Amino acid sequence: MTKKIILDCDPGIDDALAIVYAAGSAELELLGITTVAGNVSLDQTTSNALRVCEFIGAAVPVTPGCAAPLLRSPITAEHVHGADGLRGARLPPASRRPQPGHASDFIIETVLGAPGDITLIAIGPLTNIALALSREPRIAFEVQDFVIMGGSATRGNVTPAAEFNIACDPEAASIVFSAGWTVTMVGLDVTLRALADQEVLGRLGALGALADLLLVPCLGGYADDGIGPPAVHDLCAVAHVARPGLLGCQPARVEVETAGRWTSGMTVTDFRASPAEGNALVATTIDVPAFWDAVLEVYGPLAGSLNG
Ligand code: BDR
Ligand code: CA
Repeated sequence: MTKKIILDCDPGIDDALAIVYAAGSAELELLGITTVAGNVSLDQTTSNALRVCEFIGAAVPVTPGCAAPLLRSPITAEHVHGADGLRGARLPPASRRPQPGHASDFIIETVLGAPGDITLIAIGPLTNIALALSREPRIAFEVQDFVIMGGSATRGNVTPAAEFNIACDPEAASIVFSAGWTVTMVGLDVTLRALADQEVLGRLGALGALADLLLVPCLGGYADDGIGPPAVHDLCAVAHVARPGLLGCQPARVEVETAGRWTSGMTVTDFRASPAEGNALVATTIDVPAFWDAVLEVYGPLAGSLNG
């Protein structure tokens, strides 16, 4: 049975890769994309989501959400993803328009319209999700699953303690982790192992237009840590929903630091928590070869359909 998903994102190169997977996977039914400010501005993340969908022929509604974090000034990552968020991509501008309305309304209406059926995946700052929860706390109990790319039990990437999506809007992340649901946290502990190295680029490079116009130029210009091959963080979260065996997760209690002088945005992870205290499943292992095989299994047929 396919899993119905909503993808909340801030494209962003690895978000674009995640959109392609979500739209192409036979195991997933992508009901809608919601966008948030993060890697680049909201206008740009929305336009990028539309461009990617149109390029791959995915008629998915794209609904914009929050243009700034709940309380803080925006921080962005143009140095990683390029000024337009998809550095290197050779996609035409989108001709489709975003949906009217707000992402948080789309999330609330879609989740409450199909109780127990929808998996919500968030791969950007958690502002839209926090807003949706604040307006309609019942969504925490009506989703089938809630999965994020964000945080880490062991390290940060924008500071020694904080991962980008959490660091952007720690107050939103704190609301999200306190909502009474179980957050599956696909964080840097696993995503930093999913590297698009030369061997992977070789496999992706054989995919025709999908490779030539999106995957290869974007991954070539993706300055994830500026040192080694880039990590495809967001793709890990979506692949996990489609193929739960790829990642190993452990129960934990996660608290988001909102006040620390050195640790703001840290996801403080306690694996010693009792089941009653737990609020998260934290990904700690990833089968990297199986992950890339799964990605190629999805991208291959989709690329074939684009190549005619
Ligand atoms: C996360 O930050 C963003 O730059 C990526 O798109 C990903 O969601 C990784 O820390
Ligand atoms: Ca992202």
